Amino acid sequence: MRIRSLTGEDYVALYDIWARAELPFRPQGRDAEARVRREMTQGTAVFLGAEEAGQLIGVVLGTHDGRKGWINRLAVLPEYRKRGIGRDLVAAVESRLHALGIHIITCLIEGGNDASKRFFESLGYIGHPDITYYSKRSSPDW
Ligand SMILES: CC(C)(COP(=O)(O)OP(=O)(O)OC[C@H]1O[C@@H](n2cnc3c(N)ncnc32)[C@H](O)[C@@H]1OP(=O)(O)O)[C@@H](O)C(=O)NCCC(=O)NCCS
Repeated sequence: MRIRSLTGEDYVALYDIWARAELPFRPQGRDAEARVRREMTQGTAVFLGAEEAGQLIGVVLGTHDGRKGWINRLAVLPEYRKRGIGRDLVAAVESRLHALGIHIITCLIEGGNDASKRFFESLGYIGHPDITYYSKRSSPDW
């Protein structure tokens, strides 16, 4: 297994992994191909994939706003889970973000996703049950 940067050419495989991982994502909004391709060219994105035998088996989108880093859309194909691939992807994003001067790395986990909570806790992430997430969107697709 090797971890490499993703390019726009990986979009179909990226979409396929999100779908097969049953990850909630927004293909009509911020996860649309044109949008993802554009983000990949900006200096605020660290989009990585885990590849085995030429096939993408896990992905993660790291972003930062100059202050905080965010781990987004992490997914490993079901048949490749529990092999440390998710852990390696997060470590790789952390390392890239640290190199960009970002030293707080965050992620949002939906309330019912207990497996993901345990995953991030096992990597040293601390939950903040006292914080409520607010957002304002141009449309529900975003
Ligand atoms: C969350 C996810 C990315 C983990 O990927 P993975 O490659 O299986 O994770 P790893 O093998 O690197 O696991 C690292 C540690 O996390 C914990 N962990 C991983 N999956 C877990 C699960 N289902 N339940 C509890 N703990 C889990 C374990 O402590 C594990 O270490 P161990 O195997 O030594 O016990 C994967 O389950 C996934 O794609 N889920 C669906 C999409 C999703 O929910 N993404 C996250 C959105 S925030």
